[in-house]
Amino acid sequence: MARHLITSAIPYINGIKHLGNLVGSQLPADLYARYLRGRGHEVLFLCATDEHGTPAELAAAKADKPVADYCAEMWEVQDRLGKGFRLSFDHFGRSSSAQNRALTQHFAGRLHDAGLIREVSEKQVYSNADGRFLPDRYIEGTCPNCGYDKARGDQCENCTKQLDPTDLIEPRSAVSGSTDLEVRETKHLYLCQSQMRDDLNAWIDSKADWPILTTSIAKKWLNDGDGLQDRGITRDLDWGVPVKRGTKDWPGMEDKVFYVWFDAPIEYIACAQEWQDAGKGVDWERWWRTDKGADDVTYTQFMGKDNVPFHTLSFPSTILGSGEPWKLVDYIKSFNYLNYDGGQFSTSQGRGIFMDHALEILPADYWRWWLLSHAPESSDSEFTWENFQTSVNKDLADVLGNFVSRVTKFCRSKFGEEIPEGGSHGPQEEALIAELTTRIRAYEGHMEAIEVRKSATELRAIWVAGNEYLQSAAPWATFKEDPEKAAMQIRLALNLIRLYAVLSAPFIPDASAAMLSAMQTDDDRWPEDVTEALDTLSPGHAFTVPEVLFAKITDEQREEWQAKFSGTRT
Ligand code: MF3
Ligand code: ZN
Repeated sequence: MARHLITSAIPYINGIKHLGNLVGSQLPADLYARYLRGRGHEVLFLCATDEHGTPAELAAAKADKPVADYCAEMWEVQDRLGKGFRLSFDHFGRSSSAQNRALTQHFAGRLHDAGLIREVSEKQVYSNADGRFLPDRYIEGTCPNCGYDKARGDQCENCTKQLDPTDLIEPRSAVSGSTDLEVRETKHLYLCQSQMRDDLNAWIDSKADWPILTTSIAKKWLNDGDGLQDRGITRDLDWGVPVKRGTKDWPGMEDKVFYVWFDAPIEYIACAQEWQDAGKGVDWERWWRTDKGADDVTYTQFMGKDNVPFHTLSFPSTILGSGEPWKLVDYIKSFNYLNYDGGQFSTSQGRGIFMDHALEILPADYWRWWLLSHAPESSDSEFTWENFQTSVNKDLADVLGNFVSRVTKFCRSKFGEEIPEGGSHGPQEEALIAELTTRIRAYEGHMEAIEVRKSATELRAIWVAGNEYLQSAAPWATFKEDPEKAAMQIRLALNLIRLYAVLSAPFIPDASAAMLSAMQTDDDRWPEDVTEALDTLSPGHAFTVPEVLFAKITDEQREEWQAKFSGTRT
């Protein structure tokens, strides 16, 4: 038994996440966590909301709520939706927690003491009407290059020219529209990441087993001239972690907070403290401090590809720079993007399917199966309603659901609702057991390598093997000449339902629970030995015929949903 720490990138608080966000981190992380628990390992699976920064402030302003209230409400919503999708976090925390505030300040203090933080004086646009400094992209005006009147202070969207806010003609605040702006001098803290280049290079070079997507992004930024520039880690905002060195004030930094990307990954650690403080566990340091037992932990992070630089360069700089024995990540699984019906999922444009709407039309397992079996691993992938309908109808309804229904109903009609007595396995059964053994070992290998699509393909093949066996053994025909033999066949098939429940649980936990409950067992032991696993439910053991596990998606439903989700979210 090993110990596994698993984190999913923590989603921004400003709105409900779409299915592209879900499949890029939380869902595959959940798959892996469930698999490892199923194999008997000790798992700590953490996620949280990412609550600081300008987007949170602006979303709150738009909702006309104090930002703290807005975040508290959106945390509830995200927590509820996570549970709806059966994300099995041991704790779903908040980056605005007191634990994260203290820990973020602690890290800043350590980095300061190590000489890794320097102060930089900058000129920045201040809006008198808004009473705040404006980040570049929240200043709008006319592009000096093309005359477009909605150019942003960092870039003109129309002609793509990179701009400085001071280049804009008639600049105004994107927050209030006010033109009462001035340039002020302000001081910020910079993290001297460039001093860490050699350490980071050596560390990443030691990770020969990482997915290419992860290492190629990390290497690109490490070796690119300005990829590892020193970065500003403070902002002139109200909402965030106040800038301190440990518990001490930081002279000149009184009105500032840490940049959201500085405190967000620290929440991975703080979340373990929150988990403990909520009474859900003990000894959080055993998971995070290598001097307190965490050197035995395997730590795996899940994230979309846009998050990779922050997890391979910035956060490790914070950890290494602190000089303290914190656990570094062992494996980073990153994902490409999921597209939606010929375009991109987009939160700002409300395009695609969002977690709340998805659960309003179908239960979690349908989405989980499609999303995981089409995870954007080696390239971007695309959601289409046709493809979704085909997958659900074939894999879930025809292959798995139909197997369960035929076997249980046939047994009920011929032998009653209990596992029948009967002869012993013949060559056909031995062949099935051999095939299942090979496939289950392959499935384990793919799961351990976090090859999500390959795992799904193998699981489907395991379901298909049972169906093919049933088709060729044909107990309904055998029954006429040799009821003993038919009883043996159906006993094996009923045991196979339990086995499928165990193997499928990481993908489709609800259907898996329904199968176990129909088989009236809570024996969910992993099949180390297939012959033994298929002998678990003995003659006389009662079962029930379950409700339909998966309903097919009709063409009418597909068309209705396609139309319903074609526009933008309102
Ligand atoms: N909120 C970020 C996003 O959704 C992810 C933050 S991950 C962490 O892209 F490492 F910062 F925690
Ligand atoms: Zn322009």
